[in-house]
Amino acid sequence: MGKPKIYRNFTTVEFYDSYLGNSTEDIPFWLEVTKNDQEILDIGCGTGRVAIPLGIQGKTVYGIDNSMAMLQAFREKINNQYPQLKNQIHIHQQDMRSFHIDKKFHTMIIPDISFNHLATNQDVNDTLQSINQHLFPGGKLILEVINPIRVVTNQTKTIHKHVQTGKYFLTWTLGKYIHDKQIYETANYYQYCDAQGKPENDKITQVNIYYRFYYPQEMDYILEANGFRIINKYGGYDQSPFTGKEDLQIYIVRKNK
Ligand SMILES: C[S@@+](CC[C@H](N)C(=O)[O-])C[C@H]1O[C@@H](n2cnc3c(N)ncnc32)[C@H](O)[C@@H]1O
Repeated sequence: MGKPKIYRNFTTVEFYDSYLGNSTEDIPFWLEVTKNDQEILDIGCGTGRVAIPLGIQGKTVYGIDNSMAMLQAFREKINNQYPQLKNQIHIHQQDMRSFHIDKKFHTMIIPDISFNHLATNQDVNDTLQSINQHLFPGGKLILEVINPIRVVTNQTKTIHKHVQTGKYFLTWTLGKYIHDKQIYETANYYQYCDAQGKPENDKITQVNIYYRFYYPQEMDYILEANGFRIINKYGGYDQSPFTGKEDLQIYIVRKNK
């Protein structure tokens, strides 16, 4: 085998549902915190991992994401696996920093640390202002961000099975923390292999993802300075209080009246 050929594609969609986006542990949380809400805006909805279970519960879900590839995969899932949800799920390609939808909401969610993909303070303020414009006074926003104490380490090669094709692939991650920007930059690699992990060929796909870290007091301040009142701050999907030792900071906030 020659030198590996690296293909950079900046979107995880080919492998998303088989690796980064295959978690279900948070789904009961999202169903619980929206149980009394009929219409929900899912910001950074990706391939519909959370929006689809909400739709199955009878909710009307509007999903926005700036990745055409992720939304295409979401649409295909609806068409092929959940055609009964076609009238309930509305998908829009929009950037969360400057979105426009011709309606307002009582409930918005930002699952799975999508808020960590906003790199600068300007991005953060623009996003919260766009949210503010589409949220009724007193409306609820539920979001989660990484707690920066989470130990970030490189991940060695592991084998996974592709959910759509059944093919095996290897994946591994290299990362570095940019201290002055509070940004953790990762390069995620994927390579098809056999069941024993022997690479199929020398093609490696590289996906770069960055995560801006928010320290706990900083995140509280950002939300309050943008017109939100913190109702609950959890450290886990079991709704246990945030103590600072957990991997996540999970917020339920309301827009000031
Ligand atoms: C970690 S994935 C989460 C996807 C989905 N919420 C889930 O729980 O599986 C992050 C998503 O945020 C989207 N995203 C990142 N930056 C965005 C932006 N500025 N505007 C809209 N979507 C964005 C990505 O395209 C991706 O689909």
